[in-house]
Amino acid sequence: MIFFFSGTGNSRWAAQHLAEAIGEEAVDLATLMYGVEGVRQARFVCKLKDNERIGFCFPIHGWQPPHIVRQFWQMLDIVAEKKPYCYIVCTCGDNTGNALDIAERELRGCGLSLDAAFSLLMPETYVALPFMYTDTPEREREKLAKALDDLRSFEKSIAERKTGERHLVKGTMPWMLTYVVGGYFNARMISDRKFTVDEQRCVGCGLCEKSCPVGDIRMDNGNPEWLHDGRCTCCLSCYHHCPHHAINYGNITKKRGQYFFGH
Ligand SMILES: Cc1cc2nc3c(=O)[nH]c(=O)nc-3n(C[C@H](O)[C@H](O)[C@H](O)COP(=O)(O)O)c2cc1C
Repeated sequence: MIFFFSGTGNSRWAAQHLAEAIGEEAVDLATLMYGVEGVRQARFVCKLKDNERIGFCFPIHGWQPPHIVRQFWQMLDIVAEKKPYCYIVCTCGDNTGNALDIAERELRGCGLSLDAAFSLLMPETYVALPFMYTDTPEREREKLAKALDDLRSFEKSIAERKTGERHLVKGTMPWMLTYVVGGYFNARMISDRKFTVDEQRCVGCGLCEKSCPVGDIRMDNGNPEWLHDGRCTCCLSCYHHCPHHAINYGNITKKRGQYFFGH
């Protein structure tokens, strides 16, 4: 079983590719959390088959696992005959910092020990701060081509249940990135309150609502509205999917590019 979270599709692609390669199922954890009429679930019992692996695939947000993934680990009950092989594949635009240390601690809390962890460099999606841009089309192509090669080699390790593997691009001063910069970013900058809609551009197509992985957007008389109930992960999927660039996050994204996997 591979649980994944994905805003703009990078991690969904990786999880589904991996699922096919190792013959296991990829399940969207946001659907498990909010699937029942949008109400957040309290627990999820995961019954693993004999010898089934358990994997998690998600994007790095501010050098940490996104809060929805941490919440999922906290609600997860694993039922298995013996301790399952456990791995993480995380996707990032640049580097992970020490995000996997946080993941490892959370996993221990649900009785799992991490056997292998990999980071996969994918096109950049965070554009709501100065000096943060989408990749050039050329860089995007390069990253995607390399990601496919890297993913195939990670899949081989996972299929063979290799233990102790850590293929992580952590960046310089990873502790600082995760706990200082990322700590501030995740505590203060993950919010849906800065989304705006340019009414001259918005045609009320509802693609933003459909693309939101956590069901944070409701269309009200043809206008997107955010719920403001803490579920937003700031994945920017609504911003990136808008065909008219009508959604922004503050003013900074007005001149930024858009990206989603397979666009
Ligand atoms: C809120 C947010 C924070 C991000 N923080 C980081 C980061 O700390 N390091 C990094 O390399 N990429 C970062 N990224 C880029 C994503 O991790 C990367 O593009 C990822 O592949 C997106 O996956 P998805 O399409 O499955 O959502 C961030 C993206 C978002 C939306």
